[in-house]
Amino acid sequence: MDEKLRDDFPVNWEDDHFVTRREFFKFMTLASGGLALGTAAMAAYTKLPKNERAFEPARIASIADLSPGEAVPFNYPRPRDLCLLVRRKDGEYVAYSRRCTHLSCPVVYEAGTKERLFCPCHNGAFSVEDGGVLQGPPPHALPRIVLDIRGEEIYAVGVRHES
Ligand code: FES
Repeated sequence: MDEKLRDDFPVNWEDDHFVTRREFFKFMTLASGGLALGTAAMAAYTKLPKNERAFEPARIASIADLSPGEAVPFNYPRPRDLCLLVRRKDGEYVAYSRRCTHLSCPVVYEAGTKERLFCPCHNGAFSVEDGGVLQGPPPHALPRIVLDIRGEEIYAVGVRHES
């Protein structure tokens, strides 16, 4: 080999296969790490109930924003998906899609003696406990928004369709 070339590229050709082996193991380590991360992500995903789907978490409100018996509208997971965060009279936070399962009118929260989610279009009503149908033509429960309270903040993290 040309001496000038050896000076410019001082590779010890006898040890060249060690570099290749080192790079191979480096690649295998990275590939194994990637597979382990992928497996962990799949395991976390499959732990969700079949009727529940996780979405990108989105902050809805602070816990101090709502007194018992109050509600605040929000959109989740897409900007056009109308939802309602309710602080029930017993103090518990729940959230549902606002879209009535009959013909999609927006439901409103009623905190009166019959605490419920009411659809004024055809007098449909849903339970504030679980979104189930209480009266009227709606064929099924309101989809529930899965909440996660992180410190003082309330986040939406998924959607669950009750069967
Ligand atoms: S649209 Fe809600 S009851 Fe008909």
